Amino acid sequence: MPIQPTSNIWHNGKLIPWEQANIHVMSHVIHYGSSVFEGIRCYKQPHGSAVFRLPEHMQRLLDSAKIYRMDMPFTLEELCAAAVDVIEANGVTPCYIRPIALRGCGEIGVSPKGTPVEVYIANFPWGKYIPGHGGADVCISSWNRLAPNTLPSLAKAGANYMNSQLIHMEAEINGYQEGIALDVNGLVSEGSGENIFVVRNGLLYTPPLANSALSGITRDSVLTIARHLGFAVTEQALPRELLYIADEVFFTGTAAEVSPIRSIDRIVVGDGKPGEITTKIADEFFGIANGLKPDRFGWLTPVKVNASEPVTV
Ligand SMILES: Cc1ncc(COP(=O)(O)O)c(C=O)c1O
Repeated sequence: MPIQPTSNIWHNGKLIPWEQANIHVMSHVIHYGSSVFEGIRCYKQPHGSAVFRLPEHMQRLLDSAKIYRMDMPFTLEELCAAAVDVIEANGVTPCYIRPIALRGCGEIGVSPKGTPVEVYIANFPWGKYIPGHGGADVCISSWNRLAPNTLPSLAKAGANYMNSQLIHMEAEINGYQEGIALDVNGLVSEGSGENIFVVRNGLLYTPPLANSALSGITRDSVLTIARHLGFAVTEQALPRELLYIADEVFFTGTAAEVSPIRSIDRIVVGDGKPGEITTKIADEFFGIANGLKPDRFGWLTPVKVNASEPVTV
């Protein structure tokens, strides 16, 4: 889906017009992939709108920057306030929020010394990410996820998404909606932009972060919801073939939300329909995000958006 521009983008403490949020071609980030970013959703609710787990996303942005020794010129509180400001100024809800910190224009060597850190926050409408009603048809990628001690998986860094692009493009070209990557040892890691959960014999599993998975905020939300609903859930290494004999498999992510998987490598998951545990977890997740169930875990940050016409996506 092409980006739908809004009016303003937050840049280093000020709102600037969307079309002026440009960077120079000689910026460090263009040549060396030196950026860290976030993806956050703001949901429309019966009485207003609210951002889902805003502080947790901004903390991960700060953590990603720390891993890359990027001095962030803004605190957690300032970043959260900035996201609220840009959403309220643009009046677009529901929306996706994209904060990014990048190394700008200064020096051309690989060393980032002497390059300024620029922080931007944009928001825009964005609908369902994983297409397909009743579940996605996905494949195991021939590309592995990042090996430990190469590019750090816990940093949500722009450079990691070259790997994600390989996984996703291969899947798409072969007629699948998404690819699942194994880690360097052949164990299940994650989708190109999603964490993964598996249900077998009533138990819920997800790979641990040590299998080169991003510490997804939705993953954490699903772990919390699953425990709250009384499901047994384990973070443990998963062999590829467990996916083929699973009763239910689903992706989680800010873009993907909770998305059931219907088949993997053309092998039907369970009976080919979203399973009972997936459905219960998805109902709770969307219920909280959309303000239809109590915000029992304190995940929502309200925003005041006076959009005369709610944007539907
Ligand atoms: C590679 C990867 N894994 C997992 C996720 C899910 O993370 P989150 O739930 O925080 O969006 C994402 C999306 O951000 C991702 O890009």
